[in-house]
Amino acid sequence: MAKPDPTQRISELRRLIRHHEECYYILNAPEISDEEFDRLLHELERLEADYPDLVAPDSPTQRVAGRPVEGFPTVEHLVPMLSLDNAYNDEELRAFDERVRRAAGVGDAAVAYVAELKIDGLSIALTYNDGRLVRGATRGDGVRGEDVTPNVRTIRAIPLSLRPSTGPGRPEAVEGRGAPAGRIEIRGEVYLPRASFARINKDMEDAGMPLFQNPRNTAAGTMRNLDPALVAKRGLAAFTYQIVADVAAAGDGVKTVPYRTHAETLEAMRSWGLPVERHWRRCDGIVEVAAFCTEWAEKRRTLDFDTDGVVIKVDDLALRERLGTTAKFPRWATAFKFPAQQANTRVRAIRVNVGRTGAVTPFAELEPVFLAGSTIGMATLHNAEDVARKDIREGDTVLIEKAGDVIPKVVAPILALRPPEAVPWAMPATCPVCGSALHRDEEEVVWRCENASCAARIRRSLEHFASRSAMNIEGLGESLVDQLVTRQLVRDYADIYAVTADTLAGLERMGAKSAANLVAQIERSKSNDISRLIYALGIRHVGEKAAATLARHLRTMERLLDATVEQLQTVPEIGPVVADSVRAFAAEPHNRDLIARLRKAGVKMTTELPEPVGGEPEGPLAGKTVVLTGTLKSMTREEATEALEKLGAKVAGSVSRKTTYVVHGSDAGSKLEKAQKLGVETLDEDAFLALIMERE
Ligand code: IVH
Repeated sequence: MAKPDPTQRISELRRLIRHHEECYYILNAPEISDEEFDRLLHELERLEADYPDLVAPDSPTQRVAGRPVEGFPTVEHLVPMLSLDNAYNDEELRAFDERVRRAAGVGDAAVAYVAELKIDGLSIALTYNDGRLVRGATRGDGVRGEDVTPNVRTIRAIPLSLRPSTGPGRPEAVEGRGAPAGRIEIRGEVYLPRASFARINKDMEDAGMPLFQNPRNTAAGTMRNLDPALVAKRGLAAFTYQIVADVAAAGDGVKTVPYRTHAETLEAMRSWGLPVERHWRRCDGIVEVAAFCTEWAEKRRTLDFDTDGVVIKVDDLALRERLGTTAKFPRWATAFKFPAQQANTRVRAIRVNVGRTGAVTPFAELEPVFLAGSTIGMATLHNAEDVARKDIREGDTVLIEKAGDVIPKVVAPILALRPPEAVPWAMPATCPVCGSALHRDEEEVVWRCENASCAARIRRSLEHFASRSAMNIEGLGESLVDQLVTRQLVRDYADIYAVTADTLAGLERMGAKSAANLVAQIERSKSNDISRLIYALGIRHVGEKAAATLARHLRTMERLLDATVEQLQTVPEIGPVVADSVRAFAAEPHNRDLIARLRKAGVKMTTELPEPVGGEPEGPLAGKTVVLTGTLKSMTREEATEALEKLGAKVAGSVSRKTTYVVHGSDAGSKLEKAQKLGVETLDEDAFLALIMERE
């Protein structure tokens, strides 16, 4: 028998693999087993190895480049990525509809909308050139994003090439209109399926590592990871919902897409093999839209991804053009946000937790109740003042809420259901762990256990020391720390470096292999940069950023310990509070002794961070002090800080009369109020973006 033509078999395999990827990752309906899928992939890998000339960039074997990326270059979006206005209830939905109808001049006639689920992930812009995926970029500041192409290529729901003809999905409406030639930008959302999130956190738990908070943050963190191989393992997925524009390959004038309605564009995208969330619905008028919103506020828990609302878009693309955009949002769309999920339950007891700094925080032990996908048995109560203000008592029936589906909080007690014997709660007079008296500074709300040898404080401090952003000792998590402290094998940070495989033998869930791994991790942590060590020591008010700043400027542990308060204050961004705290730490003989033992164990006491460039900051915002508060939609706090610092601004943590601007995102709290009280200029997100963009 003649050997099959490799070119033909390769293209057949690629087609088959793409088909099965689509069945599995997009349609959720696999037709073959995982083993059969792997067999196809391996056959293709072998053939491509034998015929390297036939390897193509859009072959499914090319998803993981395996090559770490060096930082991410920034790239400009074809058209800025705007955000969406919000509607929180029926009334606001109707107001949106009124505005659309008025602008459209349709009188009382209904406008057609498309309602889509709002995916709680991070937005992504995908560029296809003649049907080939050439770029994936994050939203960034809306104008420029980060080029994360190697990571995007690992996401199996995102096709490396668009299918030229029609296929499964809803092809009828676009018969004869294949994937476009030229350049086209597709917008969508990358997310982490709940199942992948659960799997990742299970692995983290097994490794004794801190858990990820929610799928969205994990997805965002993963997308910005510099190792595509790790990204591939995390199991990200994506949905696409918009064709922005296509650009003729020759010129760069933005052309409009050849569809009349949004529904048609979704169908077209689907027919090219792009993942389109399938529950979207065309609605005739706002009443149908409202019904869709009510329906999904309930049903959303059945989905394998988090959705925080419904996006409502005018269907008619010509009408969209007429409506246009404001500086911030398109006028043709809005996001209906699902109400925070609430439930009633009973407070069994109010207890307190002792943290590593000795801070004692109350929490409510609840009668378990199922809310928004998980059973809740505990809720934070923040601080004693908050408990008193809300007057939450043991035995109360309370309203609890999961805002943003993360940490549950107690909203208020239901007074009508209060048992007659319930008494106001008071902070215990003594630490529940070591029994020493609790104290509170006059101007602080936090109560503290001041006993540095309190077992709870020691446990939490050791967990912090070993945590990922501190000394990063993988495997040294809560349960192991607990065992080591209980058996008095470890009393302080320096004792960690005396741990051997023998010490670990006989501890629960600690086989020879895990013990060897942990000892290796401990050894490795000795060569960490001193910035990690400074943070790990848990000096009050010294967070990750202050630790890095101190390391950069002082270079060695000796210089840090010997610096006077005045010298510390000359370090940029180090104020009197941090300076005093570092000095107090250094003045304590126990701490000096601890550092001496760490040094003796071989822990590195110097930094590799680049030396600071001298002089005052320069740039268009030099001399300006900015405070950030609340959550920004277009960038993280770190990105905003970096952008400001690049322009020479100083970013401060608290508002004073010296503050130039307070930038506020959503859920801004007391800092915004304080700014208003002091008459400090406040900037919303758009004004902030304008400020940094105009100065760049
Ligand atoms: S359309 C002009 N559709 O929500 C912006 N956005 O709050 C058009 N999002 O930045 C966006 N699901 O990242 C659209 N079905 C969907 C969406 C969606 C999630 C995100 C998107 C956007 C943010 C706005």
